[in-house]
Amino acid sequence: MLAAGASPPGPADLLRVHAPSVSKEDSLVSRITVVGGTGYAGSAIVQEAAARGHHLTALSRSAPEAPTSNVTYVQGDATDEAVLLSAIQGADVVVAALAARGPLAGSFRDTNRTIARLADAAGARLFVVGGYSSLRPAPGADRFVTDLSNHPAELHPEILAGAALILEDLPATPETLDWTFVSPAQAFGSWVTGERLGRYRLGDEVAVQPEDGGAISAADYALGFVDLIEHDDHHRAQVNLGH
Ligand SMILES: NC(=O)c1ccc[n+]([C@@H]2O[C@H](COP(=O)([O-])OP(=O)(O)OC[C@H]3O[C@@H](n4cnc5c(N)ncnc54)[C@H](OP(=O)(O)O)[C@@H]3O)[C@@H](O)[C@H]2O)c1
Repeated sequence: MLAAGASPPGPADLLRVHAPSVSKEDSLVSRITVVGGTGYAGSAIVQEAAARGHHLTALSRSAPEAPTSNVTYVQGDATDEAVLLSAIQGADVVVAALAARGPLAGSFRDTNRTIARLADAAGARLFVVGGYSSLRPAPGADRFVTDLSNHPAELHPEILAGAALILEDLPATPETLDWTFVSPAQAFGSWVTGERLGRYRLGDEVAVQPEDGGAISAADYALGFVDLIEHDDHHRAQVNLGH
């Protein structure tokens, strides 16, 4: 469906208005493990997926302040492979929603590599919460991350670690791993107040709104994210979601 006045969508720029399935067949219900399922992005994905009837396990070190009903919350450290293994075993889908901040800053890539290896071994599809800076402003153009001069230096390590997942680590995984790296618009995060509009635009590795970076609320990012899980139509690919 197109917004009034919008130009027809190209392959990299589709406006999707979410239309929830009225009843979900049992075969469409997935067991989804969200690593970092109590964070900004992770908790929105957990909430959206649980509301659609999927079976959710959320792993984090601390218990959530406002748990979502029908979600299994597991407390543990994702840097411990045994903890990850027990959360990922039996999952159909694994969502990686960790952030390269705080104590995890130095082990973020290693932890995500372990998540990818365990998801592959479990035969689970992997969906990674990505960053805006790894997107391109236009087809074939350098990714934003190649010039971070507009970002404060203290954010560079976090941005670079996140981008390394899509630039190096995910493409290096065995072909048996089915992954999707889902970048948000630039204005996304706990500092952004965003309401649920019930729609989003989906792009590939080219930002849907490269002029100013665009924005997306956690709720609409989660809407698009869970649609990607359910539609299962992107494989070993980067996509992005914006309003
Ligand atoms: N505009 C952008 O590009 C943009 C903006 C924001 C975020 N992002 C992306 O979104 C991703 C997630 O960011 P976020 O803001 O949602 O992060 P967040 O709110 O800090 O959430 C991180 C989650 O990971 C958990 N966690 C942290 N360390 C852990 C550990 N060692 N073991 C288990 N769980 C752990 C946290 O819970 P505990 O602390 O209780 O363990 C929390 O559930 C980032 O990597 C980034 O790629 C992109």
